[in-house]
Amino acid sequence: MSQPRKLHIKSYGCQMNVYDAQRMVDTLAGEGFVETADVDDADLVILNTCHIREKASEKVYSELGRLRAAKDEAAQQGRKMNIVVAGCVAQAEGNEIIRRAPVVDVVVGPQSYHHLPQLLAHAKMHGRALETEFPVEDKFGFLPPPSRQAIRARGISSFVTVQEGCDKFCTFCVVPYTRGAEVSRPVAKITDEVRRLADNGVREITLIGQNVNAYHGEGPDGRPWPLGALLRYLAEIPGIVRLRYSTSHPRDVDDTLIEAHRDLPELMPFVHLPVQSGSDRVLGVMNRKHTSDDYRRVIDRFRAARQDIAFSSDFIVGFPTETEEDFCATLALVSQIGYAGAYSFKYSPRPGTPAADMREMVSAKEMDERLVRLQELIDSQQSAFNKAMIGLTVDVLFERPARNPGQIVGRTAYLQPAHVLASPDSIGQVLPVAIESLERYSLLGRLVAPPMRPAPAPRSSTPLQTTVGA
Ligand code: SAH
Ligand code: SF4
Ligand code: F3S
Repeated sequence: MSQPRKLHIKSYGCQMNVYDAQRMVDTLAGEGFVETADVDDADLVILNTCHIREKASEKVYSELGRLRAAKDEAAQQGRKMNIVVAGCVAQAEGNEIIRRAPVVDVVVGPQSYHHLPQLLAHAKMHGRALETEFPVEDKFGFLPPPSRQAIRARGISSFVTVQEGCDKFCTFCVVPYTRGAEVSRPVAKITDEVRRLADNGVREITLIGQNVNAYHGEGPDGRPWPLGALLRYLAEIPGIVRLRYSTSHPRDVDDTLIEAHRDLPELMPFVHLPVQSGSDRVLGVMNRKHTSDDYRRVIDRFRAARQDIAFSSDFIVGFPTETEEDFCATLALVSQIGYAGAYSFKYSPRPGTPAADMREMVSAKEMDERLVRLQELIDSQQSAFNKAMIGLTVDVLFERPARNPGQIVGRTAYLQPAHVLASPDSIGQVLPVAIESLERYSLLGRLVAPPMRPAPAPRSSTPLQTTVGA
């Protein structure tokens, strides 16, 4: 038998890249590749890249510089190391990568990675290969499922892509160009995937999509199903105790989603709902297609359906034309909503997007100042939210042994890490934890004695005794 070939894959960017990386590993497992954590030892290195901001993109070229040395070293030992650039930079700058980086053997976009085996074979026979056309066929139809061992090794929480691409064209964003038009996977395919994951120990599923609540995949009745209906269907799958979804767009929140939050204990009361800015004028220039009041109303609908719901968001500061007054409207919105956490970014002009041509740039100094002010506000909300957990008993889904001996770690409904002293037998279960203290972002607590008997595997989480919006 020949030695298995070794694959090292490094992912940047969003959750979908994490999912795609796993699917690439699954695809290449069929070609005899096994994963290695050691890049120098790899026969194949894949960089699964992100184009969202300039910093993310630039990482690719510095990483390729390092890989050139590793490839030379391997060659001196008589080994060939192949290098693949996948993901959104591959899609956006494929030709430039081929031109600038002779070390790269294959460039493959996010809609074509099911062709990796053929592209690698082509590179071996004829030299370098590039595929960044959006193919007519849907890659999901060609991707092999992960092996049982792979699922078990990946843990009890899993991402599943249900929707991909975006038709919104916010003026700052590369996603519609790198991922292509919005497409939803059929309900039956998603259900098969989730069942297989659940049968192999997965307990929590996060449905992912660039615009996940624009989901409209074909249902078993032949009609398009909204996200709320999909969630309701998946909540019935034995073994699945928690469902989440990300990332939503405020415009696509329909009643089925709100009702799913009202009715499904499996659906976690934590929603990532990016707003980007609190200024209606800036939202207009961003082409977000909603106002700040539209956003407030959406939040109110969620809160009316489930009182313990909490939110996170994304913000861009220093978008072209943003004035101090606009920025203050963002601070006001944040103060009003009260987030459990949020990401904030300085605006980064991206080639090919409409905003990149806008002249009225905000100075670097002002951007820095605004970012600090926004992050201070968000941090204070986040720590208040976390502190409010102390003294409560909350459900935790245990994921893995913690670094400290004897401890295991899991997550609350709001994705806060929670540590307790308990046996690893509790991994994969949702158990009530009395929260005693907070260390940085981690909660520490103790297991509340579970009922003596009966103790069936939990199907759903008990309601959290907490109010949010601190
Ligand atoms: N689909 C999601 C998010 C996509 S990208 C949505 O519609 O909200 C993730 C986040 O990156 C965005 O929410 C935005 O805050 C940020 N982002 C996107 N393009 C950016 C750019 N050019 N400069 C700075 N931040 C950006
Ligand atoms: Fe980008 Fe806007 Fe689409 Fe989100 S909705 S992926 S920010 S274009
Ligand atoms: Fe980045 Fe592409 Fe995701 S640009 S954020 S990897 S969709």
